[in-house]
Amino acid sequence: MISIKVILIGDSGVGKTCLIQQYTSKEFTEEHITTIAAGDKSFKEVKVGEKTLKLEIWDTVGQEKFKSVNKIYMNQAKIALIVYDMTEQNSFNNLPNWYKELKDKNDSVEIIGVIANKSDLYEDKVIDKEEGENYAKSIKAIFYETSALDYDSVAAAFEGLTKNYVNKKDEEERKKTEEERKKKEEEDRKREEEEKKKLKLEASKHNEDKEKKKDKKKNDGRRWCFIF
Ligand code: GTP
Repeated sequence: MISIKVILIGDSGVGKTCLIQQYTSKEFTEEHITTIAAGDKSFKEVKVGEKTLKLEIWDTVGQEKFKSVNKIYMNQAKIALIVYDMTEQNSFNNLPNWYKELKDKNDSVEIIGVIANKSDLYEDKVIDKEEGENYAKSIKAIFYETSALDYDSVAAAFEGLTKNYVNKKDEEERKKTEEERKKKEEEDRKREEEEKKKLKLEASKHNEDKEKKKDKKKNDGRRWCFIF
């Protein structure tokens, strides 16, 4: 089974831990217990078409003072969810810093999601969906609105991103196979051309030898006539 590392980053309190809990155990806690050591991993199996993938979901620390420990947690992640709280302007303003942090510390991330969390608190919303979507577009990420109280919205984000990851990998594989096929075709074509050239050369050499032999016979015949 393919295992992929997934990380959640974003300011403290945006709901990273709650999103993971909802997705992996269908639970929600009102409490905000700040993640301190970002070593916690949760697992979830996702089926995409014929493939089953094991998501290894890492919670990271949102608090500024712990940011330095995030490097190892960001490393090797293939899918990253950059989370903001749609009722908290600062968490949205900080998205570019989290994106930069991710790009600086991880060069293997394939799929990024921008997650606007706490959609159940729509009355307190301060960031419009469009703003979130535009930011996501600007960094080539996929936008999702979630509420950590609502399993379906959370699963849609995790599974949508996983599906995108699988499709991207399949497309890369398809391109690689196509390139290899073209390369092989080109090599076969060159080999065939070389072969044809060689045959042509051999044929003209054979004709030359034949002509030479004919000339020799003619000359020998003349010499005999001369002697007699
Ligand atoms: P750090 O570990 O400090 O980085 O925070 P975090 O991003 O992991 O936040 P956490 O999941 O601990 O959630 C912070 C607070 O927001 C908690 O009180 C949660 O109950 C609350 N919360 C998280 N997600 C939602 C949501 O979608 N809706 C509502 N109403 N509250 C949420």
